[in-house]
Amino acid sequence: MKEVRIVNLLSEFDARLEAEHNQLQALSPQERAKHLDNMMLAVGRQTGEFLNMLLKTQGGKRILEIGTSVGYSTIWLAEAARVNGGCVTTLEYVATKQAQAVENIRKAGLEDFVDFQLGDAVKLVETLPGTWDFVLLDLWKQFYIPCFNRLYEKLAPGAIIVADNINFPPDFAPIMKAYQECVRAKPDLDSIQIDIGQGLEVTRKEIN
Ligand SMILES: C[S@@+](CC[C@H](N)C(=O)[O-])C[C@H]1O[C@@H](n2cnc3c(N)ncnc32)[C@H](O)[C@@H]1O
Repeated sequence: MKEVRIVNLLSEFDARLEAEHNQLQALSPQERAKHLDNMMLAVGRQTGEFLNMLLKTQGGKRILEIGTSVGYSTIWLAEAARVNGGCVTTLEYVATKQAQAVENIRKAGLEDFVDFQLGDAVKLVETLPGTWDFVLLDLWKQFYIPCFNRLYEKLAPGAIIVADNINFPPDFAPIMKAYQECVRAKPDLDSIQIDIGQGLEVTRKEIN
């Protein structure tokens, strides 16, 4: 991705993300929990680039992001959606975060390629119509399996689901292992772990 205003905006976010990471590392888990609604908690540069390239390569048009935060990963997905002639539907339940994401997507000039939905993703995924070509799962980790279970029947042939935070933070290890076991048990899905960023589980639905 080479568009200057998007590159510059993402670079600002990368600097903010690094500062936030250092701040979070200095806090106890209890203190950390109090600050989460003010943090980006974004997937980071490597994963953003990977999502962008994977989505452009796959060509998916109906894209679902679960966990918008302030829109960092949304920018990477929406830039690919523009290339693919598609649209990102992104779900978030903290209104102040969604408002920042709307503004950030506007700054990136990608507002025609994003549909923002406010509410509990576990409920929203059931009500949204149609099938999905590409899904990013990046909400609170205890909701990965409930979201996946509601999405499974709505995956288009060849659909890809990327789930973040497989390796980091380490306190999520048991719940992420349970998610991996859940998707790998499905006979029509192929799934592998890719150790970039915070660790990704990349799952693809077979075409036939
Ligand atoms: C890790 S952050 C997402 C980061 C974002 N994907 C990025 O890379 O820029 C997780 C977000 O999911 C939201 N979230 C968590 N559980 C949710 C739920 N059940 N419904 C909707 N949003 C949820 C949180 O408020 C938080 O903003």
